Amino acid sequence: MMSEGNTIRLPGLIDVHVHLRDPGQTHKEDFTTGTQAALAGGFTTIVDMPNNAEPITTIERLKQKIAIAQSKTVADIGFHYGTMGDNLESFEEAAGLAIGLKLYLNKTTGGYLLDAKHLQKIYSAWPEAKPVLLHAEEDVIDIAIESMKDLKRPIHVCHMPSKEILQKIIAAKKDGLPVTCGVCPHHLFLTKADESRLGVYGKMLPSLKSQEDQDFLWKNLDYIDIFESDHAPHTHEEKAEGAFGVPGLETTLPLLLTAYKQGRISLEQIIEKCHTNPARIFNLPVDEGTYLEIDMTEYEINNESLYTKCGWSPFAGRKVYGKVKKVVIRDRTVVTDGTVVAVPGSGKVMGG
Ligand code: DOR
Ligand code: ZN
Repeated sequence: MMSEGNTIRLPGLIDVHVHLRDPGQTHKEDFTTGTQAALAGGFTTIVDMPNNAEPITTIERLKQKIAIAQSKTVADIGFHYGTMGDNLESFEEAAGLAIGLKLYLNKTTGGYLLDAKHLQKIYSAWPEAKPVLLHAEEDVIDIAIESMKDLKRPIHVCHMPSKEILQKIIAAKKDGLPVTCGVCPHHLFLTKADESRLGVYGKMLPSLKSQEDQDFLWKNLDYIDIFESDHAPHTHEEKAEGAFGVPGLETTLPLLLTAYKQGRISLEQIIEKCHTNPARIFNLPVDEGTYLEIDMTEYEINNESLYTKCGWSPFAGRKVYGKVKKVVIRDRTVVTDGTVVAVPGSGKVMGG
């Protein structure tokens, strides 16, 4: 980290929770637009979720996804594998290609739902070196924490939205269980009160919570291991029809840097939760020659200047500090003056 005049320099950020929709739903995002959005937002490494139109639950689909990404990505990218409990024989090989295994204990986009009765056999079959990620909301968080007690196997609880869940994670951590957790920017910077203003654009899973919940997250930053955007683009038409999810790759860092300007978080905490911890928990490589230069002048987030193909943000109209001006990956400039200049196919694909 370095501060000079109005410019801040940070290491390349890592977002281990994005939905880039490729293959299958490239009308709303693809590997090129999604990774351009990542670079424009300061994320040089991202990890993509398996809830594609055809879920990434077979080796064939995982390899196909890796191959497609190779010709399209401008950032470094890896993939989480998926399971409904019926593909355990593929785990050994999948773990060699993937970053982690994502389990959905609540219903979400793509209709995934894993019956918790499969958890133990999944934990035993998935190689321990690779983390297991859980979508577990208030109704199933007890089952999720209980499920890991015997095996003491590391799990990462994604997008924790509320006081209730964070209290339980804090208790599990204090019990010495190897549990880590992530929080999304929309749960840090929006509440239920924003739903009437945002309409369908304020709908995501887990949903927006109360001010009290949000305050609890901010008060307990020390227990939050990582920030994850849960970048989940949908078209305007799909949102109108009830699709859950909001894009986040281009707004996460400016929102956090605005909170830094307001004295609510330190730069060290931003680096820890968007770089150091995700790299450590998910075994992702970092490089000294990968960094960002950020202009700390105030600007307004607007839909027109976004790279994400969906073309909107729930934070449009908000004044923030922190525009990513330059991004360098392994000594190669990929963003100049706020414009992504890297060509499709130039990013590194993990597992490829
Ligand atoms: O809001 C959400 N959108 N939550 C999820 O868990 C999935 C995501 C998506 O894929 O659209
Ligand atoms: Zn997600």
